[in-house]
Amino acid sequence: MTTLRSDAAAVPSIDLDPYAPEHLVDRTAFLTAVRETAPLVHLGAHDVFATGRFDVVREVLANWQQFQVGAGVGLANFHTEVPWRPPATPTEADPPAHDAPRRVLTDVLGARTLRRLRETWQAEADELVDRVLAGGGEVDAMADLASAFPLKVFPDAVGLPPDRRDDLLAYGDLVFNAFGPRNALFERSAARLGELSGWITSLCARENLDPAGFGAQIWAASDREDITAEQAPLVVRSLLSAGIDTTVHGIAWILHAFATHPEEWDRLRAAPELARRAFDEAVRWASPLQVVFHTTAEPVELAGVRLGKHRKIMLLLGAANHDPRRWEDPGRFTLDRDPSGHLGFGMGLHQCVGQHVARMEAEVLLTALARRVRRLEPAAPPRRGVNNTLQVWETLPLRLTK
Ligand code: HEM
Repeated sequence: MTTLRSDAAAVPSIDLDPYAPEHLVDRTAFLTAVRETAPLVHLGAHDVFATGRFDVVREVLANWQQFQVGAGVGLANFHTEVPWRPPATPTEADPPAHDAPRRVLTDVLGARTLRRLRETWQAEADELVDRVLAGGGEVDAMADLASAFPLKVFPDAVGLPPDRRDDLLAYGDLVFNAFGPRNALFERSAARLGELSGWITSLCARENLDPAGFGAQIWAASDREDITAEQAPLVVRSLLSAGIDTTVHGIAWILHAFATHPEEWDRLRAAPELARRAFDEAVRWASPLQVVFHTTAEPVELAGVRLGKHRKIMLLLGAANHDPRRWEDPGRFTLDRDPSGHLGFGMGLHQCVGQHVARMEAEVLLTALARRVRRLEPAAPPRRGVNNTLQVWETLPLRLTK
Protein backbone atom coordinates (compact mmCIF):
# COMPACT_ATOMS: atom_id res chain seq x y z
CA MET A 1 0.00 0.00 0.00
CA THR A 2 2.90 2.35 0.83
CA THR A 3 4.35 1.82 -2.65
CA LEU A 4 0.99 2.56 -4.26
CA ARG A 5 0.62 5.82 -2.36
CA SER A 6 4.12 6.97 -3.11
CA ASP A 7 3.92 6.47 -6.90
CA ALA A 8 0.39 7.87 -7.10
CA ALA A 9 1.40 10.91 -5.05
CA ALA A 10 4.20 11.70 -7.50
CA VAL A 11 1.85 12.75 -10.31
CA PRO A 12 -1.19 15.01 -10.56
CA SER A 13 -4.45 13.31 -9.71
CA ILE A 14 -7.47 13.69 -11.98
CA ASP A 15 -10.86 13.57 -10.43
CA LEU A 16 -12.81 12.51 -13.52
CA ASP A 17 -14.19 9.04 -14.06
CA PRO A 18 -13.59 7.98 -17.68
CA TYR A 19 -16.43 5.46 -17.37
CA ALA A 20 -19.05 7.98 -16.24
CA PRO A 21 -21.85 8.00 -18.85
CA GLU A 22 -21.17 11.60 -19.95
CA HIS A 23 -17.50 10.81 -20.73
CA LEU A 24 -18.42 7.69 -22.67
CA VAL A 25 -20.79 9.55 -24.97
CA ASP A 26 -18.16 12.20 -25.65
CA ARG A 27 -14.67 11.50 -24.34
CA THR A 28 -13.11 14.77 -25.49
CA ALA A 29 -13.15 16.57 -22.11
CA PHE A 30 -11.64 13.60 -20.29
CA LEU A 31 -8.97 12.91 -22.92
CA THR A 32 -7.95 16.55 -23.09
CA ALA A 33 -7.79 16.88 -19.29
CA VAL A 34 -5.50 13.86 -18.96
CA ARG A 35 -3.25 14.80 -21.86
CA GLU A 36 -2.88 18.47 -21.00
CA THR A 37 -2.48 18.10 -17.23
CA ALA A 38 0.76 16.11 -17.30
CA PRO A 39 2.56 13.35 -19.20
CA LEU A 40 1.27 10.90 -16.60
CA VAL A 41 -1.63 11.31 -14.17
CA HIS A 42 -3.31 9.20 -11.52
CA LEU A 43 -7.04 8.46 -11.70
CA GLY A 44 -8.31 8.27 -8.15
CA ALA A 45 -11.63 6.73 -9.19
CA HIS A 46 -9.88 3.51 -10.26
CA ASP A 47 -6.37 3.80 -8.75
CA VAL A 48 -4.68 3.53 -12.14
CA PHE A 49 -2.28 5.76 -14.05
CA ALA A 50 -3.28 7.30 -17.35
CA THR A 51 -1.46 8.97 -20.21
CA GLY A 52 -2.69 10.71 -23.32
CA ARG A 53 0.68 12.01 -24.55
CA PHE A 54 1.73 10.52 -27.87
CA ASP A 55 5.37 10.03 -26.81
CA VAL A 56 4.53 8.38 -23.50
CA VAL A 57 1.88 6.05 -24.96
CA ARG A 58 4.35 5.09 -27.67
CA GLU A 59 7.12 4.49 -25.14
CA VAL A 60 4.91 2.13 -23.12
CA LEU A 61 3.77 0.24 -26.21
CA ALA A 62 7.34 -0.09 -27.45
CA ASN A 63 8.64 -1.45 -24.15
CA TRP A 64 6.83 -4.79 -23.92
CA GLN A 65 9.41 -6.16 -21.49
CA GLN A 66 8.50 -3.69 -18.75
CA PHE A 67 4.91 -2.87 -19.69
CA GLN A 68 3.09 -6.15 -20.10
CA VAL A 69 -0.34 -7.38 -21.14
CA GLY A 70 -0.55 -10.63 -19.14
CA ALA A 71 -2.50 -8.86 -16.38
CA GLY A 72 -5.18 -8.03 -18.96
CA VAL A 73 -5.58 -5.17 -21.44
CA GLY A 74 -8.60 -3.84 -19.57
CA LEU A 75 -9.04 -2.19 -16.18
CA ALA A 76 -9.09 -5.46 -14.20
CA ASN A 77 -5.67 -6.44 -12.86
CA PHE A 78 -5.26 -10.20 -13.25
CA HIS A 79 -2.48 -10.12 -10.63
CA THR A 80 -5.21 -9.54 -8.07
CA GLU A 81 -8.53 -10.21 -9.84
CA VAL A 82 -9.92 -13.28 -11.54
CA PRO A 83 -10.47 -12.77 -15.32
CA TRP A 84 -14.10 -13.08 -16.48
CA ARG A 85 -12.97 -15.51 -19.21
CA PRO A 86 -9.71 -17.35 -19.97
CA PRO A 87 -7.30 -14.54 -20.99
CA ALA A 88 -7.05 -13.88 -24.72
CA THR A 89 -4.09 -15.03 -26.72
CA PRO A 90 -1.99 -13.44 -28.22
CA THR A 91 -3.73 -10.26 -26.99
CA GLU A 92 -3.21 -10.87 -23.27
CA ALA A 93 -0.09 -13.04 -23.44
CA ASP A 94 3.50 -11.87 -22.99
CA PRO A 95 6.52 -13.50 -24.60
CA PRO A 96 7.29 -16.31 -24.85
CA ALA A 97 3.62 -17.46 -24.71
CA HIS A 98 2.60 -14.59 -27.03
CA ASP A 99 4.91 -15.37 -29.89
CA ALA A 100 3.73 -18.65 -31.42
CA PRO A 101 0.02 -17.64 -31.61
CA ARG A 102 1.09 -14.27 -33.01
CA ARG A 103 3.23 -15.93 -35.70
CA VAL A 104 0.32 -18.16 -36.69
CA LEU A 105 -2.02 -15.17 -37.02
CA THR A 106 0.57 -13.15 -38.94
CA ASP A 107 0.75 -16.00 -41.42
CA VAL A 108 -3.00 -16.73 -41.61
CA LEU A 109 -3.87 -13.02 -42.07
CA GLY A 110 -0.87 -12.25 -44.28
CA ALA A 111 -0.45 -10.81 -47.76
CA ARG A 112 -1.10 -14.13 -49.52
CA THR A 113 -4.50 -14.45 -47.86
CA LEU A 114 -5.44 -10.88 -48.63
CA ARG A 115 -4.51 -11.27 -52.31
CA ARG A 116 -6.72 -14.35 -52.45
CA LEU A 117 -9.70 -12.58 -50.84
CA ARG A 118 -9.54 -9.16 -52.45
CA GLU A 119 -11.52 -9.95 -55.59
CA THR A 120 -14.34 -11.71 -53.69
CA TRP A 121 -14.54 -8.92 -51.12
CA GLN A 122 -14.61 -6.25 -53.83
CA ALA A 123 -17.45 -8.11 -55.58
CA GLU A 124 -19.36 -8.37 -52.28
CA ALA A 125 -18.88 -4.66 -51.65
CA ASP A 126 -20.00 -3.74 -55.19
CA GLU A 127 -23.10 -5.86 -54.80
CA LEU A 128 -23.96 -4.40 -51.39
CA VAL A 129 -23.65 -0.81 -52.62
CA ASP A 130 -25.73 -1.60 -55.72
CA ARG A 131 -28.42 -3.08 -53.49
CA VAL A 132 -28.45 -0.07 -51.18
CA LEU A 133 -28.69 2.31 -54.12
CA ALA A 134 -31.46 0.25 -55.72
CA GLY A 135 -33.38 0.73 -52.47
CA GLY A 136 -33.30 4.52 -52.96
CA GLY A 137 -30.05 5.38 -51.17
CA GLU A 138 -31.52 6.39 -47.78
CA VAL A 139 -29.73 4.17 -45.27
CA ASP A 140 -28.79 3.70 -41.68
CA ALA A 141 -25.13 3.42 -42.62
CA MET A 142 -24.38 1.86 -39.25
CA ALA A 143 -26.56 -1.17 -39.94
CA ASP A 144 -26.72 -1.25 -43.73
CA LEU A 145 -23.06 -0.64 -44.60
CA ALA A 146 -20.69 -0.48 -41.60
CA SER A 147 -22.15 -3.60 -39.98
CA ALA A 148 -23.56 -5.43 -43.00
CA PHE A 149 -20.31 -5.58 -44.94
CA PRO A 150 -17.82 -6.80 -42.30
CA LEU A 151 -20.45 -9.16 -40.86
CA LYS A 152 -20.68 -10.81 -44.27
CA VAL A 153 -17.08 -11.03 -45.45
CA PHE A 154 -15.07 -11.47 -42.24
CA PRO A 155 -16.99 -14.33 -40.57
CA ASP A 156 -17.23 -16.02 -44.00
CA ALA A 157 -13.43 -15.81 -44.21
CA VAL A 158 -13.03 -17.18 -40.67
CA GLY A 159 -15.29 -20.08 -41.70
CA LEU A 160 -18.35 -19.40 -39.52
CA PRO A 161 -21.92 -20.42 -40.38
CA PRO A 162 -24.15 -17.70 -41.89
CA ASP A 163 -26.64 -17.44 -39.01
CA ARG A 164 -26.54 -15.20 -35.89
CA ARG A 165 -24.13 -12.66 -37.40
CA ASP A 166 -25.59 -9.83 -35.29
CA ASP A 167 -24.75 -11.82 -32.18
CA LEU A 168 -21.08 -11.51 -33.13
CA LEU A 169 -21.50 -7.76 -32.62
CA ALA A 170 -23.22 -8.38 -29.28
CA TYR A 171 -20.26 -10.54 -28.21
CA GLY A 172 -17.76 -7.86 -29.24
CA ASP A 173 -19.79 -5.26 -27.35
CA LEU A 174 -19.59 -7.50 -24.27
CA VAL A 175 -15.84 -8.10 -24.62
CA PHE A 176 -15.06 -4.40 -24.94
CA ASN A 177 -17.43 -3.45 -22.12
CA ALA A 178 -15.70 -6.06 -19.97
CA PHE A 179 -12.40 -4.18 -20.42
CA GLY A 180 -13.97 -1.47 -18.25
CA PRO A 181 -15.42 -1.58 -14.72
CA ARG A 182 -18.44 -3.62 -13.67
CA ASN A 183 -20.77 -0.70 -14.40
CA ALA A 184 -24.29 -0.61 -15.83
CA LEU A 185 -22.96 -1.00 -19.37
CA PHE A 186 -21.10 -4.15 -18.48
CA GLU A 187 -24.13 -5.50 -16.61
CA ARG A 188 -26.32 -4.77 -19.63
CA SER A 189 -24.17 -6.77 -22.03
CA ALA A 190 -23.30 -9.36 -19.36
CA ALA A 191 -26.96 -10.35 -19.18
CA ARG A 192 -26.12 -12.55 -22.18
CA LEU A 193 -22.64 -13.54 -20.99
CA GLY A 194 -23.26 -17.25 -20.40
CA GLU A 195 -25.22 -17.77 -23.59
CA LEU A 196 -22.86 -15.76 -25.85
CA SER A 197 -19.65 -17.18 -24.37
CA GLY A 198 -20.93 -20.74 -24.77
CA TRP A 199 -21.93 -20.05 -28.37
CA ILE A 200 -18.56 -18.41 -29.20
CA THR A 201 -16.71 -21.33 -27.65
CA SER A 202 -18.68 -23.73 -29.83
CA LEU A 203 -17.96 -21.66 -32.96
CA CYS A 204 -14.22 -21.94 -32.27
CA ALA A 205 -14.30 -25.74 -32.10
CA ARG A 206 -12.63 -27.40 -35.05
CA GLU A 207 -15.68 -29.39 -36.17
CA ASN A 208 -17.79 -26.24 -36.48
CA LEU A 209 -15.39 -24.31 -38.71
CA ASP A 210 -15.42 -24.41 -42.51
CA PRO A 211 -12.25 -26.24 -43.64
CA ALA A 212 -11.34 -23.39 -46.03
CA GLY A 213 -11.33 -20.58 -43.44
CA PHE A 214 -8.89 -18.81 -41.09
CA GLY A 215 -10.23 -20.88 -38.17
CA ALA A 216 -9.32 -24.18 -39.83
CA GLN A 217 -5.88 -22.80 -40.73
CA ILE A 218 -5.32 -21.97 -37.06
CA TRP A 219 -6.27 -25.53 -36.10
CA ALA A 220 -3.95 -26.85 -38.83
CA ALA A 221 -1.12 -24.92 -37.17
CA SER A 222 -1.82 -26.93 -34.01
CA ASP A 223 -1.44 -30.17 -36.05
CA ARG A 224 2.03 -28.92 -37.04
CA GLU A 225 2.63 -28.16 -33.35
CA ASP A 226 3.24 -24.49 -34.12
CA ILE A 227 0.73 -23.87 -31.32
CA THR A 228 -0.94 -26.31 -28.90
CA ALA A 229 -4.43 -27.75 -29.32
CA GLU A 230 -5.42 -25.82 -26.17
CA GLN A 231 -4.29 -22.54 -27.73
CA ALA A 232 -6.04 -23.07 -31.09
CA PRO A 233 -9.63 -22.24 -30.01
CA LEU A 234 -8.41 -19.18 -28.08
CA VAL A 235 -6.56 -17.92 -31.14
CA VAL A 236 -9.72 -18.38 -33.22
CA ARG A 237 -11.63 -16.57 -30.46
CA SER A 238 -9.18 -13.65 -30.65
CA LEU A 239 -10.38 -13.02 -34.22
CA LEU A 240 -14.00 -12.93 -33.08
CA SER A 241 -13.28 -10.68 -30.08
CA ALA A 242 -10.83 -8.23 -31.62
CA GLY A 243 -11.70 -8.32 -35.31
CA ILE A 244 -15.36 -7.43 -35.71
CA ASP A 245 -16.69 -4.50 -33.64
CA THR A 246 -13.40 -2.62 -34.09
CA THR A 247 -13.69 -2.76 -37.87
CA VAL A 248 -17.44 -2.14 -37.94
CA HIS A 249 -17.03 1.08 -35.96
CA GLY A 250 -13.90 2.05 -37.88
CA ILE A 251 -15.94 1.87 -41.08
CA ALA A 252 -18.83 3.74 -39.45
CA TRP A 253 -16.40 6.51 -38.50
CA ILE A 254 -15.02 6.90 -41.98
CA LEU A 255 -18.51 7.06 -43.47
CA HIS A 256 -19.41 9.71 -40.91
CA ALA A 257 -16.17 11.55 -41.70
CA PHE A 258 -16.95 11.68 -45.41
CA ALA A 259 -20.60 12.59 -44.87
CA THR A 260 -19.50 15.59 -42.81
CA HIS A 261 -16.52 16.53 -45.04
CA PRO A 262 -18.00 16.62 -48.57
CA GLU A 263 -14.84 18.16 -50.05
CA GLU A 264 -12.85 15.13 -48.90
CA TRP A 265 -15.47 12.85 -50.44
CA ASP A 266 -14.98 14.63 -53.77
CA ARG A 267 -11.24 14.03 -53.48
CA LEU A 268 -11.77 10.34 -52.85
CA ARG A 269 -14.11 10.06 -55.83
CA ALA A 270 -11.47 11.70 -58.01
CA ALA A 271 -8.77 9.38 -56.65
CA PRO A 272 -10.22 6.17 -55.12
CA GLU A 273 -6.67 4.94 -54.51
CA LEU A 274 -6.70 7.32 -51.52
CA ALA A 275 -9.13 4.95 -49.74
CA ARG A 276 -6.41 3.28 -47.72
CA ARG A 277 -4.90 6.50 -46.46
CA ALA A 278 -8.39 7.84 -45.75
CA PHE A 279 -9.18 4.85 -43.55
CA ASP A 280 -5.98 5.29 -41.58
CA GLU A 281 -6.77 8.96 -41.13
CA ALA A 282 -10.22 7.97 -39.81
CA VAL A 283 -8.64 5.46 -37.41
CA ARG A 284 -6.33 8.24 -36.18
CA TRP A 285 -9.12 10.81 -36.02
CA ALA A 286 -11.70 8.62 -34.25
CA SER A 287 -9.61 5.86 -32.64
CA PRO A 288 -12.43 3.25 -32.59
CA LEU A 289 -10.45 1.33 -29.96
CA GLN A 290 -9.95 4.18 -27.48
CA VAL A 291 -7.98 2.63 -24.70
CA VAL A 292 -5.81 -0.32 -23.70
CA PHE A 293 -4.13 -0.99 -20.38
CA HIS A 294 -0.61 -2.36 -20.06
CA THR A 295 0.88 -3.24 -16.63
CA THR A 296 4.31 -2.71 -15.10
CA ALA A 297 6.22 -5.97 -14.69
CA GLU A 298 8.62 -4.53 -12.10
CA PRO A 299 9.21 -1.07 -10.60
CA VAL A 300 10.04 1.16 -13.56
CA GLU A 301 10.45 4.82 -14.42
CA LEU A 302 7.97 6.45 -16.80
CA ALA A 303 7.80 10.16 -17.62
CA GLY A 304 10.17 10.84 -14.73
CA VAL A 305 8.05 8.94 -12.21
CA ARG A 306 9.01 5.75 -10.42
CA LEU A 307 6.05 3.35 -10.74
CA GLY A 308 5.58 0.31 -8.53
CA LYS A 309 5.30 -3.29 -9.66
CA HIS A 310 2.02 -4.48 -11.25
CA ARG A 311 0.63 -0.98 -11.78
CA LYS A 312 -1.92 -0.53 -14.53
CA ILE A 313 -1.46 2.25 -17.06
CA MET A 314 -4.41 3.41 -19.10
CA LEU A 315 -3.10 4.21 -22.56
CA LEU A 316 -5.46 6.71 -24.15
CA LEU A 317 -4.95 6.03 -27.85
CA GLY A 318 -7.64 8.56 -28.73
CA ALA A 319 -5.81 11.30 -26.81
CA ALA A 320 -2.40 10.39 -28.27
CA ASN A 321 -3.83 10.44 -31.78
CA HIS A 322 -4.94 14.04 -31.11
CA ASP A 323 -1.81 15.18 -29.30
CA PRO A 324 -0.96 18.61 -30.77
CA ARG A 325 2.70 17.93 -29.90
CA ARG A 326 2.65 15.27 -32.63
CA TRP A 327 -0.17 16.24 -35.01
CA GLU A 328 -0.89 19.53 -36.69
CA ASP A 329 -4.54 20.55 -36.32
CA PRO A 330 -5.33 17.10 -34.87
CA GLY A 331 -9.11 17.57 -34.76
CA ARG A 332 -9.25 17.94 -38.53
CA PHE A 333 -10.06 14.93 -40.73
CA THR A 334 -8.10 15.47 -43.93
CA LEU A 335 -6.68 13.43 -46.78
CA ASP A 336 -3.79 15.93 -46.91
CA ARG A 337 -2.30 14.36 -43.84
CA ASP A 338 0.09 11.42 -43.73
CA PRO A 339 -1.49 9.57 -40.78
CA SER A 340 1.13 6.82 -40.66
CA GLY A 341 2.57 6.31 -37.20
CA HIS A 342 -0.80 6.87 -35.51
CA LEU A 343 -1.49 4.64 -32.53
CA GLY A 344 -5.04 3.56 -33.42
CA PHE A 345 -3.77 0.06 -34.20
CA GLY A 346 -1.34 0.14 -31.27
CA MET A 347 2.42 -0.18 -31.76
CA GLY A 348 5.25 -2.62 -31.23
CA LEU A 349 4.92 -6.26 -30.23
CA HIS A 350 1.12 -6.30 -29.87
CA GLN A 351 0.38 -3.95 -32.77
CA CYS A 352 -2.85 -5.06 -34.39
CA VAL A 353 -2.22 -8.28 -36.29
CA GLY A 354 -5.50 -7.79 -38.21
CA GLN A 355 -4.87 -4.24 -39.37
CA HIS A 356 -4.37 -5.20 -43.01
CA VAL A 357 -7.61 -7.16 -42.94
CA ALA A 358 -9.46 -4.15 -41.49
CA ARG A 359 -7.84 -1.85 -44.06
CA MET A 360 -8.87 -4.11 -46.93
CA GLU A 361 -12.46 -4.32 -45.72
CA ALA A 362 -12.66 -0.54 -45.57
CA GLU A 363 -10.80 -0.07 -48.83
CA VAL A 364 -13.04 -2.27 -50.98
CA LEU A 365 -16.21 -0.79 -49.49
CA LEU A 366 -14.99 2.79 -49.99
CA THR A 367 -13.92 1.98 -53.53
CA ALA A 368 -17.37 0.54 -54.30
CA LEU A 369 -19.00 3.68 -52.88
CA ALA A 370 -16.62 6.13 -54.54
CA ARG A 371 -17.29 4.60 -57.96
CA ARG A 372 -21.06 4.93 -57.63
CA VAL A 373 -22.01 7.61 -55.12
CA ARG A 374 -21.73 11.27 -56.08
CA ARG A 375 -23.03 12.69 -52.82
CA LEU A 376 -22.88 11.20 -49.36
CA GLU A 377 -24.65 13.32 -46.76
CA PRO A 378 -26.34 13.11 -43.37
CA ALA A 379 -30.05 12.34 -43.73
CA ALA A 380 -30.83 12.97 -40.02
CA PRO A 381 -28.74 13.56 -36.89
CA PRO A 382 -26.69 10.45 -36.08
CA ARG A 383 -26.84 8.89 -32.61
CA ARG A 384 -23.72 7.96 -30.65
CA GLY A 385 -23.65 4.70 -28.73
CA VAL A 386 -21.66 3.91 -25.60
CA ASN A 387 -19.10 1.25 -24.81
CA ASN A 388 -16.47 1.16 -22.06
CA THR A 389 -13.63 0.82 -24.58
CA LEU A 390 -14.85 1.51 -28.10
CA GLN A 391 -15.96 4.75 -29.70
CA VAL A 392 -19.24 3.70 -31.28
CA TRP A 393 -22.24 4.80 -33.31
CA GLU A 394 -25.74 3.57 -32.76
CA THR A 395 -27.29 5.00 -35.89
CA LEU A 396 -25.83 6.87 -38.84
CA PRO A 397 -28.62 7.96 -41.21
CA LEU A 398 -27.12 8.87 -44.59
CA ARG A 399 -28.42 9.77 -48.02
CA LEU A 400 -26.43 8.34 -50.93
CA THR A 401 -26.97 9.98 -54.30
CA LYS A 402 -25.79 8.45 -57.57
C1 HEM B 1 -4.37 -5.85 -31.34
C2 HEM B 1 -6.98 -2.01 -32.84
C3 HEM B 1 -9.01 -4.75 -36.31
C4 HEM B 1 -7.07 -8.69 -34.25
C5 HEM B 1 -4.84 -4.55 -31.49
C6 HEM B 1 -4.37 -3.40 -30.76
C7 HEM B 1 -5.10 -2.33 -31.17
C8 HEM B 1 -6.04 -2.81 -32.17
C9 HEM B 1 -5.00 -0.90 -30.67
C10 HEM B 1 -3.19 -3.39 -29.75
C11 HEM B 1 -3.64 -3.71 -28.34
C12 HEM B 1 -2.52 -3.63 -27.33
O1 HEM B 1 -1.47 -3.00 -27.53
O2 HEM B 1 -2.68 -4.20 -26.23
C13 HEM B 1 -7.77 -2.43 -33.90
C14 HEM B 1 -8.62 -1.56 -34.69
C15 HEM B 1 -9.18 -2.33 -35.68
C16 HEM B 1 -8.69 -3.68 -35.50
C17 HEM B 1 -8.82 -0.06 -34.44
C18 HEM B 1 -10.12 -1.94 -36.80
C19 HEM B 1 -10.25 -0.71 -37.28
C20 HEM B 1 -8.63 -6.05 -36.09
C21 HEM B 1 -8.97 -7.18 -36.93
C22 HEM B 1 -8.44 -8.29 -36.33
C23 HEM B 1 -7.73 -7.86 -35.14
C24 HEM B 1 -9.79 -7.09 -38.22
C25 HEM B 1 -8.48 -9.73 -36.79
C26 HEM B 1 -8.56 -10.08 -38.06
C27 HEM B 1 -6.19 -8.24 -33.27
C28 HEM B 1 -5.42 -9.14 -32.41
C29 HEM B 1 -4.62 -8.32 -31.60
C30 HEM B 1 -4.94 -6.95 -31.94
C31 HEM B 1 -5.46 -10.68 -32.42
C32 HEM B 1 -3.58 -8.78 -30.54
C33 HEM B 1 -2.22 -8.84 -31.21
C34 HEM B 1 -1.08 -9.20 -30.26
O3 HEM B 1 -1.26 -9.14 -29.04
O4 HEM B 1 0.00 -9.58 -30.75
N1 HEM B 1 -5.86 -4.16 -32.36
N2 HEM B 1 -7.85 -3.69 -34.40
N3 HEM B 1 -7.86 -6.49 -35.03
N4 HEM B 1 -5.89 -6.94 -32.95
FE1 HEM B 1 -6.79 -5.32 -33.75
